Amino acid sequence: MDMNIEDIVKQVLAEMQGTQAAAPAAGSRPAGAIPKTSRVAMLTGLEKFEIREYPIPELGDDDILVKVEGCGVCGTDAHEFKRDPFSLIPVVLGHEGTGEIVKMGKNVKKDSAGKALTVGDKVVTCMIFKDNPDITMFDLNKQNVGGADVYGLLPDDDIHLNGWFADYLVIRGGSSVFNVSDLDLDSRILIEPAAVLIHAVERAKTTGILRFNSRVAVQGCGPIGLLCIAILRTMGIENIVAIDGEQKRLDFAREMGAEKSVNFKDYKGIEALADGVKDAFGGYLADFAFQCTGSPVAHSNIYKFIRNGGGLCELGFFINGGDATINPHFDICAKELTVVGSWVYTLRDYATTFDFLKRAKGIGLPVHKLITHKFPLDQVNEAHFTNLRMEGLKVAIVNE
Ligand SMILES: NC(=O)c1ccc[n+]([C@@H]2O[C@H](COP(=O)([O-])OP(=O)(O)OC[C@H]3O[C@@H](n4cnc5c(N)ncnc54)[C@H](O)[C@@H]3O)[C@@H](O)[C@H]2O)c1
Ligand SMILES: [Zn+2]
Repeated sequence: MDMNIEDIVKQVLAEMQGTQAAAPAAGSRPAGAIPKTSRVAMLTGLEKFEIREYPIPELGDDDILVKVEGCGVCGTDAHEFKRDPFSLIPVVLGHEGTGEIVKMGKNVKKDSAGKALTVGDKVVTCMIFKDNPDITMFDLNKQNVGGADVYGLLPDDDIHLNGWFADYLVIRGGSSVFNVSDLDLDSRILIEPAAVLIHAVERAKTTGILRFNSRVAVQGCGPIGLLCIAILRTMGIENIVAIDGEQKRLDFAREMGAEKSVNFKDYKGIEALADGVKDAFGGYLADFAFQCTGSPVAHSNIYKFIRNGGGLCELGFFINGGDATINPHFDICAKELTVVGSWVYTLRDYATTFDFLKRAKGIGLPVHKLITHKFPLDQVNEAHFTNLRMEGLKVAIVNE
């Protein structure tokens, strides 16, 4: 009889328990482990998720069935929950998700980075390239999000299991999927937002201004600004000043690695605030600044914190937040500033993000403390209201 060690061990254990080990079918868990239906949290109206139950479909040869473990609530979910700007309702939201592969089609062998995939692996999804479903990470040079879709922001379809606020998700062939079994659950939930900052820092590096000893200002200490600080720290940049109006967030920015913090509410007028930032750097303006708020006023302000010849990465406006006033002469020309914008990320940034999260943990940054609230799936409405009230930092749905 031809058996490998694992099968023999299973056989012995089963006999010890008085049962016969059932031979698991290739590419699936033992029969009975996967239910016939899955719950999803479907946004059916403004500020209203309903828990619906749908059959788990037969998988195609290129598809993957994932048992969802958790998914972060994003600012984009908040917009969709409140106003449906993307006209997606009814929609299963949740794009910052992760879970375990419980079944795969026979053609699925590797993830988008070429790493082997098997049942039991923990995965995340990235973008789906509508115009080119065959795209892999190795084909990408500088492709950003043009023509890309994301699970959790897809129109409802006949299968319905296409968002991460659910018990199960079907990853269709042609999607980008990554094996992240070596990361813990909290880290995996933070991959998507962290990838935004990996991309922003890559954009910042193109200016040639960001160096080990740069003085860096990070304006806005929500999840985005805080992850920015963590990434700068893992790169060895230490001279970081965080700017926000919420003292609790500024305190956490210090924990995350900012050397100093500036509360803009302590200053009257932009001149005084700029002096406050300068003082925090020991009498110097910033060499480089990251703008991580969605406030046009904050965009106008940030130029005043940057030295002549310095650089700025603006990443705070994922969606249109309105116009900002600047003085092009003083703020850009006379300073000879280098300004870059940053929006979302590429597949390559995803792979870098996995390493960042391991490194951050390795040097003791409290990245996992960003997840301040966890709710089960059936409390998805409460999770979103908690997020809207801005009581914590990252709110997540975590399945039992
Ligand atoms: N570029 C991208 O691809 C991308 C991706 C995701 C999110 N974003 C954007 O990044 C921004 C930040 O995201 P978040 O989740 O951290 O949001 P958040 O609302 O939790 O945090 C924003 C922070 O900015 C602070 N703030 C507001 N006005 C300020 C001012 N004038 N000066 C200093 N601080 C000020 C707030 O107190 C808050 O702590 C959002 O606008 C979001 O849309 C961009
Ligand atoms: Zn997001």
